[in-house]
Parts: sequence; C-alpha cells; structure tokens
Amino acid sequence: SVESALRRRGAASSNRRLFSSDSVPERKVAILGAAGGIGQPLALLMKLNPLVSNLALYDIAGTAGVAADVGHINTRAQVAGYVGEEQLGKALEGSDVVIIPAGVPRKPGMTRDDLFNINAGIVKSLCTAIAKYCPSAVVNMISNPVNSTVPIASEVFKKAGTYDEKKLFGVTTLDVVRAKTFYTGKAKVPLRECLQLIDVNVPVVGGHAGITILPLFSQATPAGNDLSTEDIKALTKRTQDGGTEVVEAKAGKGSATLSMAYAGAIFADACLKGLNGVPDIVECSFVQSSITELPFFASKVRLGKNGVVEVLGLGPLSDYEEEGLENLKPELKASIEKGIKFARDN
Ligand code: NAD
Ligand code: LMR
Repeated sequence: SVESALRRRGAASSNRRLFSSDSVPERKVAILGAAGGIGQPLALLMKLNPLVSNLALYDIAGTAGVAADVGHINTRAQVAGYVGEEQLGKALEGSDVVIIPAGVPRKPGMTRDDLFNINAGIVKSLCTAIAKYCPSAVVNMISNPVNSTVPIASEVFKKAGTYDEKKLFGVTTLDVVRAKTFYTGKAKVPLRECLQLIDVNVPVVGGHAGITILPLFSQATPAGNDLSTEDIKALTKRTQDGGTEVVEAKAGKGSATLSMAYAGAIFADACLKGLNGVPDIVECSFVQSSITELPFFASKVRLGKNGVVEVLGLGPLSDYEEEGLENLKPELKASIEKGIKFARDN
C-alpha cells in the first residue's frame, strides 16, 4: 500500500540519518607504542574502525613511517605520527581512548613478571603524561605484566588527582579470543555456530598471567555438551598457556602481536561504542573490582558513556572453576601489590 511504502521510505531515510557521518561523534584514539609488533597492526585495525575520527600514533621511534603508510588508507580517521617525549602531549591531547602496547615482550623461558622491571617505568611515565594531557580518557592497558601495570596506572592517576576507576582497563580480550577458538575447536557445538566464531562466548576472569587466567567453560555458549572433565582441564591449560605457546613458536622474536592487535581492536571498539551510547556492550576486562576481596579483577564489564557502567559478577562456577579461583588469588594479589608498591616508591 502507499502507506507502507511511505513508512518504508521513512525508515530508510532515518537509517541514513543514523549512519551518516554527522551522527557519529568525533573520537580520537591514541596508540602509545604504535611502531611495535602490536602497535602496527593495531594502528591498521583502528584506521579501519569507522568510529575513529583521529588516530594518533606515538612511539619513541618509527611512527612517521607507520603513520604515512596507514594514513593512505581511504577511511574516516585522520592519522598523525608523534615521536619522542616532546611530542607525547600533542599525541594525547583530546584523546577519548588511549591504548598502551608500549614495552618489551617476553622471550622463551620468561614469565610476564620478568618484564616488570622495564615495563613498570614505561607505563608509569606514559600514565603521568595521560594524567596531564588527557585526564578523562579511557585507558586500555596492554603492556605486561597487566596484573601489575593496571595497579601502577591507578596509583599514578591517584597521585595526579585524576583517577577514575571507571576508565582504567587491563586488556584481557586475547584470553577470551583464545578461549573461544580452543573451545570451538573442541566442543561439538552446532556447525552453524562454529562457522561464526562471533556467536561463541566464553567468559575469562581473574587476571592475565598463567593460572590467574581463569576461563569459565561451564558458562560457555553454545554449551559444549560432550566435553569431559579432562577436556575442560586441557582447554583451561591451553588458554592459560596461550601466550607462552606463541612466545615459544616465535622462538625469541617476541610474543603475540597479530592476535593481540585483533583482540585490542575488539576491546577498543567496545569502549568507543560504550562512549557513543550503544547499549549492552559487555566485554571481559581487568578492572578495579569488588566482586572478590582483590582490588583488581577481570570479569565481564558493562561499558557505557563514562567507561564502566557495571562490573558483572562471576555467575555460577563449577567446582573446578571454584578451585581455580581460590588458587589464583595469592599470585594475583602479589602482582597487584607489587605494582602498587612500585608506583608509591618511585
Ligand atoms: P614490541 O617490542 O614489538 O613493541 C613495543 C613498542 O613499544 C616498541 O615500538 C617500542 O619502541 C615502544 N616503546 C618502548 N618504550 C616506549 C615508551 N616509553 N613510549 C612509547 N613507546 C615505547 O613489543 P610488542 O610485541 O608490541 O608487545 C608490547 C607489550 O604488549 C609487551 O609488554 C607485551 O608483553 C604486551 N602484550 C600484552 C598482551 C595482552 O594480552 N595484554 C598480549 C601481547 C603482548
Ligand atoms: C599474551 O598473552 O600473548 C601476552 O600476554 C604476551 C605474553 O607474554 O604471553
């Protein structure tokens, strides 16, 4: 009928309005460590994200080339490279989201905590600059050891008087990405769902190192009905050792960069959607938390216009997961305290 044709036309034009570039807010994203193994592919993925209007690529060297290269891609974001401490302020000014993959990666035989001595100082100085130049930005911390670098960031921001616990995130998305991949490979989930990894979900809680990484396969969707206890244990161990698997395969040439860039891009996109008011954005992240007795903990988090809207609880755990939760607490507590002490003493 004429009436329904008009209604269709009305809907089409309001859709156009919704997706026209005028209605998508300007958002500046800064990547600190943008010339690195993660930084470069992450710069590419953020350049492809239509929610980004400005992309600032900062590193101590090498960003001019990355910015020139990525800047030739014909997408919305305006790209600029910044190099050296004297340009850090300009890189950060006006940023809505700051992603930090700056610092050294592991080599075979190292733990993430072995990176503490170098990366703690790097994170501290970058966060000092964030407090000065873009104190209300959402921060996505990738630099390891995440279990300590997030507490370091919180202390730096507290000292500067800018701390907003709703805006500080340790990026644990790679653990979720791995858990989904390994689960889909093992669980006899319906093929239709298998082909769309995006439909598979596995929460991962705790922290981001070894046994502090606790995937909750009992809550995986769609349910993998045929998984035995042994299967769950093997999937858990593979998720916990995922980073080491890549470090060993790269044999001295660093740790996960491509899968991390993918995971970092997913998490930053979720933060941007939250800032833009898109409802029901939920991702796992290592945040200030009161769902356990530890001051920071990774769990599902609902994201909104000011960062964290709600830290979601753990939900029902299996006995195996309960045991994993208790086992991880001492290590996670020690890593958090180490970060806090470093920031207070330095
Ligand atoms: P990389 O060495 O390839 O790149 C790191 C970059 O940081 C380099 O370009 C370096 O110049 C830069 N950098 C060093 N000091 C800096 C400073 N003060 N300011 C700005 N930039 C600085 O390393 P990568 O493979 O990209 O890994 C980076 C970090 O991410 C490591 O700490 C690694 O352990 C961590 N990581 C975390 C996860 C996670 O899941 N959260 C996953 C993978 C890697
Ligand atoms: C990862 O999980 O891949 C990162 O934390 C890097 C590492 O050192 O394992």
